[in-house]
Amino acid sequence: MKQQWYGDTCRVGMVGGGQLGRMFIQSAISFDVHVHALDPDPNAPCKDIAHSFTTGSLNDFDTLYAFGRDKHVLTVEIENVCIEAFEQLEKEGVRIFPQPRVLRIIRDKGIQKEFYKEHGIPTADFQLFNNSQGIIDVKLAVPFVQKLRTGGYDGRGVQLIKQETDFSKLFEAPSVVEQLIPFQKELSVIVARNEKGETKSFPAVECEFHPEANLVEFLFCPADINEDIETAAHELAKKVICALDMVGLLAVELFLTADGQLLVNEIAPRPHNSGHHTIECNITSQFEQHLRAVLGLPLGETQSVRAGAMINLLGAEGFEGPVRYEGMEKAMEMPGVHPHLYGKAFTKPFRKMGHVTITGTQIEEVKSTARTVSSIIVVKS
Ligand SMILES: Nc1ncnc2c1ncn2[C@@H]1O[C@H](COP(=O)(O)OP(=O)(O)O)[C@@H](O)[C@H]1O
Ligand SMILES: [Mg+2]
Repeated sequence: MKQQWYGDTCRVGMVGGGQLGRMFIQSAISFDVHVHALDPDPNAPCKDIAHSFTTGSLNDFDTLYAFGRDKHVLTVEIENVCIEAFEQLEKEGVRIFPQPRVLRIIRDKGIQKEFYKEHGIPTADFQLFNNSQGIIDVKLAVPFVQKLRTGGYDGRGVQLIKQETDFSKLFEAPSVVEQLIPFQKELSVIVARNEKGETKSFPAVECEFHPEANLVEFLFCPADINEDIETAAHELAKKVICALDMVGLLAVELFLTADGQLLVNEIAPRPHNSGHHTIECNITSQFEQHLRAVLGLPLGETQSVRAGAMINLLGAEGFEGPVRYEGMEKAMEMPGVHPHLYGKAFTKPFRKMGHVTITGTQIEEVKSTARTVSSIIVVKS
């Protein structure tokens, strides 16, 4: 009998059991698709809502291979997985989206940047170095941004080197060194592509970063940009996903430079922090779109039905232990406030514990509510 890509006979493996996997499962339940999750943390956010939950390393060949063997489709919520196991499973007929080949390009920021260069995708100029001494030897002109080629996330593994006295803090490991872009805005476009080659992208969002944590603090949609830039951002995102020949969901982080150029900063082949508002604000959420894309189903409509802002709920500094959300009910009294808690029992400084989406008809009003909500809720222990 032909495999149906919805309903309880479809076994999907989610590699990674964090909040992205959890929100993916919330969507999959509506399609009655069974999602099985794998994560090294026995208390990961997916553990209580996955159809089955396996505790194990994502980087261990045998663990990932054993997890994947009986699944129809495997997908990820994190790039850092054992690609060799994925390649073996793919050979044996397991459908894996994003494809292992794409994960190889993306998870190493050096290979990722070379991919942009080869495909004429605009990006900040860069050089690759094997170690910090290489940077010192060529007396690289400051300022520049140094990024670890692998293993960095959420701003960890990225640093600004302003002056030569900062050379002492250079990362030792292989890195990409980029020209510092004095951008006017950071934007993100999430695009999906299925096996038929159909693509659909979500309206661009504007990201405002927390200066210290280097995490997105506020995200607004619609972005405050003109139509030409909006169109160009969508075209660029589509160009990237088509050049990758990727199936699945791709978040494309962009810089809008002072002179109106768009540069690709980095990409993530999975649901992304900058798409959480789509749960409330768009006809189809990024999580449902991811599911549709990897299952070979028709992609959903991406239009916004209302304006939105998103705030990450990060563990406050100075608190570590069982989590307590101060001010949550007060925030929920405000119009259009939707909390999402990730089911993490313990907080620590800057840990992503949840997010809040604020919706409304006017983006200005939504922004003002978002700033108030952000000052009211404190994640303590
Ligand atoms: N070339 C650059 N010029 C200016 N700022 C940059 C540059 N590269 C990164 N940044 C800043 O650092 C943040 C984190 O870098 P990014 O490459 O996106 O790594 P991460 O994997 O941590 O998200 C970016 O969102 C941006 O604010
Ligand atoms: Mg980033």
